[in-house]
Amino acid sequence: MTADRLLFVNARQVVTCAGPARGRRGAEMADAAVRTGVGVLVEGRTIVAVDDDVALRRATTDAVEVDCAQGVLTPGFVDSHTHAIFGRARYEEQELRATGVPYMEIARRGGGIHASVRDLRTRGEDELFALAEPRLRALAAAGVTTVEVKSGYGLSLDDELKTLRVVRRLAAALPMRIRATWLGAHEIPLDYRERQGGRRAYIDLLLQEMLPEIARDRLAAFADVFCEPGVFTVDESREILSAARAKGLAIKLHADELVAGGGAELAGELGAVSADHLAAVSDAGIAALAAHHTVATLLPGTMLFLGKRDQAPARRLIEAGVPVALATDFNPGTSPTTNFPLILTLAVSQLHLSVAEAMVAGTVNGAAALALADRVGQLAPGFSADLALWEVGDVRELPYWYGAGRCRASWARGKPCHAHDLALPFPR
Ligand code: NIG
Ligand code: FE
Repeated sequence: MTADRLLFVNARQVVTCAGPARGRRGAEMADAAVRTGVGVLVEGRTIVAVDDDVALRRATTDAVEVDCAQGVLTPGFVDSHTHAIFGRARYEEQELRATGVPYMEIARRGGGIHASVRDLRTRGEDELFALAEPRLRALAAAGVTTVEVKSGYGLSLDDELKTLRVVRRLAAALPMRIRATWLGAHEIPLDYRERQGGRRAYIDLLLQEMLPEIARDRLAAFADVFCEPGVFTVDESREILSAARAKGLAIKLHADELVAGGGAELAGELGAVSADHLAAVSDAGIAALAAHHTVATLLPGTMLFLGKRDQAPARRLIEAGVPVALATDFNPGTSPTTNFPLILTLAVSQLHLSVAEAMVAGTVNGAAALALADRVGQLAPGFSADLALWEVGDVRELPYWYGAGRCRASWARGKPCHAHDLALPFPR
């Protein structure tokens, strides 16, 4: 028996999401390729067969069997948008918003992102690592096996580099796959905002000091900008992202989160791998994303937590042929959740996705948003052995038991990411 061969058997459903290895569009999103009576054989880090359970069992004598106990097996989720490296929580802002103070007004008063920046700057690398590690483990416990983590609460050369080094250490220490994004352009830090010429000086710092070091040490695969009126303008975002692209980083944008400001149009123009948020995206923005196959990463938890009525126009995006992904936006200000299945619930109830569309959005299209769709997001031969086992009898129960933790175990690249013994009944 070789420990690096795993045979998953006795699943009630295997949600394979098998199909084209790229961002899925339109009707392609409507099929999660759910199969029954099949098992999954893993060798080392890779899936080698998805086939009839009984036949696979008969043909495989040297694998460790994982009994799925009539639960549902899915690809591990891909959380393609998080800000997981931060210090303290920001619960006081939630109450402020409840009394009618808007998110952007809290930022103008020096709270919001600025509060997290002040806090992160006081903490060392070891401390930030120790804070982030259990958060990522909580994501793994929610079925996430690939996660993107952004910087953006440092906003100085040292603090951004410190943040990205923490991400690198987490990637080495944890079984899940971790991708780093440089978000030095998350906000203009207060010390620059308040002085004359400070905006330009901060952009120069981003381009002349941060970017070269980050590119040289390969500390991030992606560059992101918070492109929003009141934060970075479209022209500033274009300048920063073009420079990052020239240094070999792929591009993401926080676009049209609160106001239609031309962020999605810019994402298309620059060939961004994803444009994220998009609650206020314009028709021209949707057309630009469709034309350039840019993934629209929707973050319905953020709109829920901010108390906004307007969610991103997911149906119009899908109808226009834009590949739609879902992510948590896990961060201390606008989305303090690691509960990926809850995001599926919101996708169905608020964005009007079908369960199959939400599954594809949380796996294949999340992988596409990280330029990983050729090897991540499907239970199919040749794909990375990233799996999650759920204590439910039907995939439609994932969004249904909302807020619940039904993930029994997850594996990334064939290695256990999370295991826990729940014994919830799920009658047939
Ligand atoms: O994705 N929109 C900008 N950035 C984060 C929130 C950051 C914060 O408030 O700390 C977001 O929602
Ligand atoms: Fe974000």
